[in-house]
Amino acid sequence: MLKVLFVCLGNICRSPMAEYIFKDMVKRQGIEQIYIDSAATSSEEIGNNIHYGTRNKLKEMNIEYGNHLARQITKQDYEKFDYIIGMEEKNIKDIKKIVGKDPENKIHRLLDFSKNPRDIADPWYTGNFDKTYDDIVEGLSAFLEHLKNI
Ligand code: 4NP
Repeated sequence: MLKVLFVCLGNICRSPMAEYIFKDMVKRQGIEQIYIDSAATSSEEIGNNIHYGTRNKLKEMNIEYGNHLARQITKQDYEKFDYIIGMEEKNIKDIKKIVGKDPENKIHRLLDFSKNPRDIADPWYTGNFDKTYDDIVEGLSAFLEHLKNI
């Protein structure tokens, strides 16, 4: 089974949004053999639920989400997952600080799969969860196309 881990700073806004949108996307397409999870680079929000801004946006879009508990990425996650996908360049740097080098080229920035590579801004600071959602959907659609072509 292919395993994908989405990562952001706090694991309460962007990476859980990516986790639940991607679960919904693959389910709708009848793809069952992907394990999807999310984690934080920081320890700041460990144990916390999804931010209400992300929850509201997922509800608005009719996307199911579970009883999320934020967790921090570990060195072991590098062995467990096939893809470790950060939301912005700073996440990539911070992921590497925790897991070490990336000899298997597992660590990627989400929008590097798209035609317009860029960071996904942190809605914790911008307050704009609509923009976060649009950027994440763009990245996930491109990532899913990538998976279909490997
Ligand atoms: P996220 O947003 O990385 O998209 O989950 C943040 C959540 C919490 C904090 C920063 C960003 N924080 O500083 O606690």
